[in-house]
Amino acid sequence: MIPHSRPTIDEADILDVASVLRSGNIAQGSVVEKFEQELAGYIGVKSGVATSSGTAALHLALIVLDITRKDTVALPSYVCTAVLNAVNYVGASPLLIDTHPDTFNMDVEDLKRKLTPQVKAIIVPHSFGLASDLEEIMALGIPVIEDCAQSIGATYKNKLTGSFGNISIFSFYATKMITTGEGGMVVSNSEEFLGKIRDLRDYDNKGNYGTRYNYKMTDFQAALGLSQLKKLNHFIEIRRKIAQRYNIELKNFCSLPVNHGNDSKHIYYRYTIKLRRDVESFLKLSKEKGINCERPVFKPLHRYLNLSGFTSTDRVWEKAVSIPIYPTLTEKNIHIIIEFIKSAVTGL
Ligand SMILES: Cc1ncc(COP(=O)(O)O)c(C=O)c1O
Repeated sequence: MIPHSRPTIDEADILDVASVLRSGNIAQGSVVEKFEQELAGYIGVKSGVATSSGTAALHLALIVLDITRKDTVALPSYVCTAVLNAVNYVGASPLLIDTHPDTFNMDVEDLKRKLTPQVKAIIVPHSFGLASDLEEIMALGIPVIEDCAQSIGATYKNKLTGSFGNISIFSFYATKMITTGEGGMVVSNSEEFLGKIRDLRDYDNKGNYGTRYNYKMTDFQAALGLSQLKKLNHFIEIRRKIAQRYNIELKNFCSLPVNHGNDSKHIYYRYTIKLRRDVESFLKLSKEKGINCERPVFKPLHRYLNLSGFTSTDRVWEKAVSIPIYPTLTEKNIHIIIEFIKSAVTGL
């Protein structure tokens, strides 16, 4: 079976993790700190705070923005449930936004239509590795949490995603662009936000009591993160080359992912196509043929919440398929995937 996604782990990664394991200092320590500095440096922001997951990072970001039960948080419907979970952790009301049919990102016009004075934060994911329209969203004057779980390395107007929001978060789950197995990071230019997040991340050795969390990353995870970060630009380069192959080969067979052009570059965390045929039977067929294609979002949030009026999200969900793309995908498998899609689309 050709996997849908795969981490790229080499000997250098393994040696760096082993070296931390041998040191005896395996919990959160100096290696986590180094990873925070390197990642913040890469993005071009002041600093970062590493966490146990992207979800934990989102939760802490909402807390320091003072989001509580009386507030509403805007987020797209076409995103994984982790984002909704974080909103629920702080007891806020979610305001779901419809999807732009070409970019798969939040539809900014729908966001503007639905805004109320209760909306105190907007969570802005950059879906599948393509930047959202940050300029228009930031202009609304509401605090923005950039969700870069899928977009590390992607640019918007020649600057990296994660450098725009009041707070930005990352995920280093196994299938992400770079991985620490599980893990996340909050970055910001606000030392005030990050100081609070640093305090909330860990419960031990505190002079005063307040509800805190155990959202720490370990040093051996951070060692993997540091080693992976060195290779991120190379990973992106390979993904773009594979995407280029797909773009050329598949252009007459399905709708391809859009790219904004040179100043807002896609990193192809996912290569998401839209089919003219039924997705469910396509996915079943792909698995029968040994290729693990997936829906890029398992189910939109409005469907979990039984909400209607998300016509564009529904249409996208009914047509979109994510096909394998990752640095270790072999030439042979790229060829198999292309030929399968061509035949599955013309066979009907
Ligand atoms: C857009 C987005 N935000 C947040 C998360 C949550 O990250 P994690 O799985 O590290 O908790 C994910 C998950 O993969 C995601 O895709």
